[in-house]
Amino acid sequence: MRLAASMYGTMAHTKVTSDNKPLKAAPVLGQRGKIIQEFGTVVKLPSGLEEGVTRQSIEDLNQVLADTMMLRDLYKKHHWQVSGPTFYQLHLLLDAHYEKQAELVDLIAERIQALGGIALALPHDVSEHTRIERAPIGREEVPVQLSRLLEAHELILKESREYAHAADERGDDGTNDLLVSEVVRTNELQVWFVSEHLVDTPVVNAK
Ligand SMILES: [Fe+2]
Repeated sequence: MRLAASMYGTMAHTKVTSDNKPLKAAPVLGQRGKIIQEFGTVVKLPSGLEEGVTRQSIEDLNQVLADTMMLRDLYKKHHWQVSGPTFYQLHLLLDAHYEKQAELVDLIAERIQALGGIALALPHDVSEHTRIERAPIGREEVPVQLSRLLEAHELILKESREYAHAADERGDDGTNDLLVSEVVRTNELQVWFVSEHLVDTPVVNAK
């Protein structure tokens, strides 16, 4: 058994037999290759949409995707770091919202791929694209945590309505539907649930 020399002159990790045939069950590890599609480019698919239409939808959806990924992770940060008398209730609520945002991330990313684009995926790329204010690495008080979440929701809602309207005008019904039926509706509901926790109302004695 020996290693096969690759076309680049380096030794690949493919194990071969004495007659230079790769072992069928041996994994080929340590591979790198060329990029087959650069970020920002669009592959033409038979969707019936013009390339200019899909290109704009992909760009808009990637913005919503970056912001949704940041909001999703902000929910998990606060799920872990929440404190005080309402800890248990908020701990559960914030995780439920995280799960729903994670579903949105998948829907948005797969729409981008379905349009022939490339969805943002990794944290360092997301942090370069998001418009949501960077939260500190440390732990904050509950009202601040909730305020950050609401501000992120509002940013996503504003841009999603704007992008949905524009998608409708250029004839991209699928993108319009995703933004309105999933992103806007979900974010509006979560805004309500979080906002009610910032109403200063007495628990036992009326004021
Ligand atoms: Fe958890």
